[in-house]
Amino acid sequence: MSYWTIFGGAGAVVLGAALLVGPDWDLPPVDTEQIGYRGTGMFVSRDIEKQAELREANIAPPAPWEADPEGERADDIYENVQVLGHLSDDQFNQFMAAITEWVSPEEGCTYCHSDDGNFAWDGLYTKVVSRRMIQMTQAINEDWASHVGNVGVTCYTCHQGNNIPENVWWFDDDPEAARGALGYRAGQNVVGEFVGRTSMPQNALADYLLGDKEIRVHSNTALPTGENTATTKETEGTWALMMHMSESLGANCMACHNSRAFNEWDESPPQRVTAWHGIRMTRAMNNDYMVGLTPIFPENRLGPEGDVLKVGCSTCHNGVQKPLYGVSMLQDYVDALATKTSSGVPDYESFVPGETEVLAPAEDQQSSLMLPDPTSASKETRVAAQ
Ligand code: HEC
Ligand code: HEC
Ligand code: HEC
Ligand code: HEC
Repeated sequence: MSYWTIFGGAGAVVLGAALLVGPDWDLPPVDTEQIGYRGTGMFVSRDIEKQAELREANIAPPAPWEADPEGERADDIYENVQVLGHLSDDQFNQFMAAITEWVSPEEGCTYCHSDDGNFAWDGLYTKVVSRRMIQMTQAINEDWASHVGNVGVTCYTCHQGNNIPENVWWFDDDPEAARGALGYRAGQNVVGEFVGRTSMPQNALADYLLGDKEIRVHSNTALPTGENTATTKETEGTWALMMHMSESLGANCMACHNSRAFNEWDESPPQRVTAWHGIRMTRAMNNDYMVGLTPIFPENRLGPEGDVLKVGCSTCHNGVQKPLYGVSMLQDYVDALATKTSSGVPDYESFVPGETEVLAPAEDQQSSLMLPDPTSASKETRVAAQ
């Protein structure tokens, strides 16, 4: 054996050992699931260690109690209910107890209400935001069954016991570009917080989950024909979005694509169609609900550029392919959250924190006129549809 072989062998052992014990390198035990025909390379791989953590973090809590739908309506009992007036008194109280657990378990009722017991007062921005969040949640459940199915969502899907959902995004201009000729980096080439920590365009989510930029970049021919006008930067933006989607669901590209043809819908798993609707739904939530709330939020609840914190795929999915592993919490809150009770937007510019007694309801909020008759069969039919 020559001197060099021993040397080389020893080097390899040292290098191998360094890789195994090195601080930044960890070989996770990976669970691989075949999701397509044999030989098509359709596998979803998941880090087994992370799975246990995710399982623990994504458990749907039970309802505080089972609410009695009979009895006097909230509208008749309380002074200032603009979206939940159709609930029975017991349902209303159950819902207040539930949202306290979902959004402000530590602060309690006074996170949204004054501490002198005047529950009708609208002076806290958290209450005004919550009212709009109720409308948003109702809209997701009623208008977006194409994405959320019968499972639906509640505040808990996003908040999970936090004042602000853990996974949100905002306009990210960090770090500020240096001045001068070398300063222009075209919004990329930094470690992008919302694009899988790559150097892809760092505000790609704004293009696709707020704006409605095309997500078609694929050519069908080997050589350019002039038909596909997508630029390299647009392709990179698409890639950035795809990485956000993969990370949000804790799934690789194969959960939605067959890698031999990323563009082909016929060869893609059905999840891709669900995701297509999810992109449109997320856009609608940001445009129709989140952005409008900007003037209500105090500065410390906005992003560094002064924009409202926005919803992405991860806000609901929190790292799993079906939020809360597909467990539905909605059946305990059907009357509060499964149908739209009003869709108007109040005039948020007129809100003065600490002073506004009652934020005037939006035009179409004549709640008692639009609400389902609580004594009708509608609840049973909706529950049966679950
Ligand atoms: C995360 C915010 C939030 C928390 C926490 C919260 N509420 Fe509310 N509460 C609201 C909103 C929003 C309304 C108005 C609903 C509407 O307009 O239909 C409301 C309305 C009420 C009303 C009706 C007052 C009136 O006369 O108009 C009562 C009573 C009430 N809440 C009690 C409670 C109690 C008790 C708790 C704690 C167990 C609680 N709330 C926790 C957001 C909250
Ligand atoms: C699709 C995700 C989603 C759902 C569902 C949702 N929220 Fe939110 N909520 C958000 C985001 C994102 C913010 C942060 C906005 C910001 O700070 O700029 C937020 C902020 C809030 C805040 C402000 C908290 C603070 O400390 O500033 C309250 C209160 C709130 N939500 C209540 C609710 C209630 C009540 C429900 C259910 C009726 C609900 N939310 C459902 C995404 C959601
Ligand atoms: C959760 C589902 C999902 C995951 C995961 C996903 N994609 Fe996509 N992908 C889609 C959908 C939906 C579209 C089409 C969007 C549209 O047309 O609005 C798409 C479009 C694309 C396109 C453009 C196809 C065309 O017609 O030009 C490419 C390329 C692509 N994805 C690559 C990837 C890569 C690479 C990954 C992994 C990093 C990935 N995707 C992960 C759902 C997904
Ligand atoms: C408002 C919450 C919410 C948001 C935001 C959201 N999803 Fe979902 N998504 C759900 C729920 C709930 C389900 C489960 C539906 C069911 O089981 O029928 C789901 C299911 C899916 C599935 C099907 C999973 C499977 O294995 O069947 C895909 C794929 C998916 N979402 C992708 C996305 C993508 C991509 C985005 C962002 C563009 C997104 N979702 C944003 C709530 C959300």
